Amino acid sequence: MKKIISYLLVVILIIISSLKLRADEGMWLPILLETLKIKDMQAKGCKLSAEDIYSVNNASLKDAVVIFGGGCTGELVSEKGLLITNHHCGYGTIQKHSSVEKDYLTNGFWAMSQEEELSNPGLSVKFLVRMEEVTDAVLKDVSETMTEVMRHEKISANIDTLIKQATKGNQYLAVVESMFLGNNYYLFIYEEYKDVRLVGAPPSAIGKFGGDTDNWMWPRHTGDFSIFRVYADKDNKPAEYSADNVPYKPKKFFPISMKGVKEGDFTMVFGYPGSTTEYLTSYAVKMISENENPHQIKLREKRLEIMKADMDASDKVRIQYSSKYAGIANYWKKWIGENRGLKKLDAIEKKEALEEDFTKWANSSPELKAKYANILPEYKKLYSQLSPYNLALTYFFESALAIEIIQFSNKFNRLKTHNSETLKNNKESMLNTSKSFFKDYNMPTDKKVFISLLKMYKENVPTEFLPKIYKLIETKYNNDYQAYADFVYSKSVLSNEEKSNAFINNFTTKSIKKLENDPAYQLSNSFIEMYMEKVKPYFETINNQIDSLHRHYMKGLMEMQSDKIFYPDANFTMRVTYGKVDDYYPRDGVHYKFYTNLDGIMEKDNPEIYDYDVPDKLKELYINKDYGQYEVDGSVPVCFTASNHTTGGNSGSPVIDADGNLIGVNFDRNWEGTMSDIMYDPNQCRNITLDIRYLLFIVDKFAGASHLIDEMTIIK
Ligand code: ARG
Ligand code: ASP
Repeated sequence: MKKIISYLLVVILIIISSLKLRADEGMWLPILLETLKIKDMQAKGCKLSAEDIYSVNNASLKDAVVIFGGGCTGELVSEKGLLITNHHCGYGTIQKHSSVEKDYLTNGFWAMSQEEELSNPGLSVKFLVRMEEVTDAVLKDVSETMTEVMRHEKISANIDTLIKQATKGNQYLAVVESMFLGNNYYLFIYEEYKDVRLVGAPPSAIGKFGGDTDNWMWPRHTGDFSIFRVYADKDNKPAEYSADNVPYKPKKFFPISMKGVKEGDFTMVFGYPGSTTEYLTSYAVKMISENENPHQIKLREKRLEIMKADMDASDKVRIQYSSKYAGIANYWKKWIGENRGLKKLDAIEKKEALEEDFTKWANSSPELKAKYANILPEYKKLYSQLSPYNLALTYFFESALAIEIIQFSNKFNRLKTHNSETLKNNKESMLNTSKSFFKDYNMPTDKKVFISLLKMYKENVPTEFLPKIYKLIETKYNNDYQAYADFVYSKSVLSNEEKSNAFINNFTTKSIKKLENDPAYQLSNSFIEMYMEKVKPYFETINNQIDSLHRHYMKGLMEMQSDKIFYPDANFTMRVTYGKVDDYYPRDGVHYKFYTNLDGIMEKDNPEIYDYDVPDKLKELYINKDYGQYEVDGSVPVCFTASNHTTGGNSGSPVIDADGNLIGVNFDRNWEGTMSDIMYDPNQCRNITLDIRYLLFIVDKFAGASHLIDEMTIIK
């Protein structure tokens, strides 16, 4: 009897722990919270209703969350359009305003009045007006017997119609996105505000503290935030930048709670996760982890090594390349962590086990067999066909298109027109492109990258994917990449700002010949030609077939696990993810606390290293324990970890407490959890949040910008 009881106890414990295990995974569409998730959220401490979070009729939290620029999230924190996002999300903008004389990257920037706020052409924020499921309208007249190409065409046409209807007579933007790999479709309507000004950014030694060494890591001490303000016209409507614009008055903004977090507290992250692929098969995970990631890592490593040496040697180059470097380093490191995490988690074996279940289930009845039994064998075949094209594609993007002169040359195609009006406009836009390209271009750095990456391409890609130009490199330059580079960079008009601009200014249809004979353009063109002929069509054909399998496999999985609540992969649409403030055990014998504080910053202080060189002012505050109202237990809290399932794009997302108040700004994930885009592990995956009290402390005590704090609603 005792044995039976203890056996039962073990079984119950396993069930409970497996329920618990799955608890925090998922990125939920806000309109589905009411039916799918709000009960569970409330059971875990959330005091909000689904309507408080997302409502079309009343102001709700969703009205305070925006898409910031092209790939981040931001949140409104005052009735005067004040917005918080990450430092690394505002980084490109801060970098653009910086020069050796006005080095905002190193020194930070604070507008002490609205007049001092800096405008940013090209930067916008988008508010979600509403979302709606439109599956029936998108799949209208689509039949299962259609070819994938016909299906795509029909779907595109239906989507066009929907978008036209949704944007008729208003100034909204509309997009339709597929969910569950083509099984469902949702329409998203946005209102875009284009006058977004920089208000404040801490020095990099705070906003990017720890740099790439600490990136994707816990324990973390990065004050990763920057502050902007959204402007509108006099009617509070979107307008291009104008000195007459006024601060935007949002429907909703977040009150800020200084109450802090305890272990186990409910947290929610509201934002725009960019992309996850949680439903891939073992074949895909294998291709990514064994082939794609290792090559991408190797290529970026080379690029980073070259850039770093030149950045360390010159302040000018450091400023020119800092933003590019951070972008390249970010995913380089992420892929390393992802591969490590997938391996530790036995992701491929876990996928295989699920596939075995699927195969059994799919063969369990004639109906299921007809619909699903073929999927996995087909996947296997298609991924083995895809693999070489995937490698060529990886190299095309991560080596050829990583060479700046190739990217730039490619842009000149827009001048190859015989229409004089188009040419006139395109010359103008090309001059702008040229201006921003050369502002951050250091030719000697690019030349070194060029030499290394062209060589790596040749060494790693099957010969069928070698562009014709390699013949010339072989016959004329005897495979001496240095000699070939000397030729390209000295003879091309595109590697020099003056020559380039003169060429653009004087461009006529007669110049097309000259462009086509330019060595940099020829190189770029040779890669594009190869890609268009030898890679793209095959890659797309195979991928179309894979897409069809994805759709059916997803449907099958949902049918097989009919009691599981599925979430759609992230696709840069608004999502809510929730979990709790949580510590973790990264490896045997090691326990990580869930929070860090200012003392930890001082521990890492190292004036010798740019990324760890704590600013004097911060040291002074520390020495004098001048923490004001931000003091907690003799220090200032800096970051905390929680179990919210987040990904790239969630950067800058509001981290919200059970009452809907802002308690932090999401900015990263931990090293042990970087595989969460492919497989989430509740024991190891943590999102990293900047504690809002550190942000307030820096704004108030460090920068002396207390007028910004006065604008916010602070709950103590
Ligand atoms: N890893 C974070 C994210 O993916 C932060 C990246 C910015 N920081 C950096 N050192 N590159 O966006
Ligand atoms: N740092 C990421 C971002 O930029 C967030 C993440 O990947 O967790 O969105």
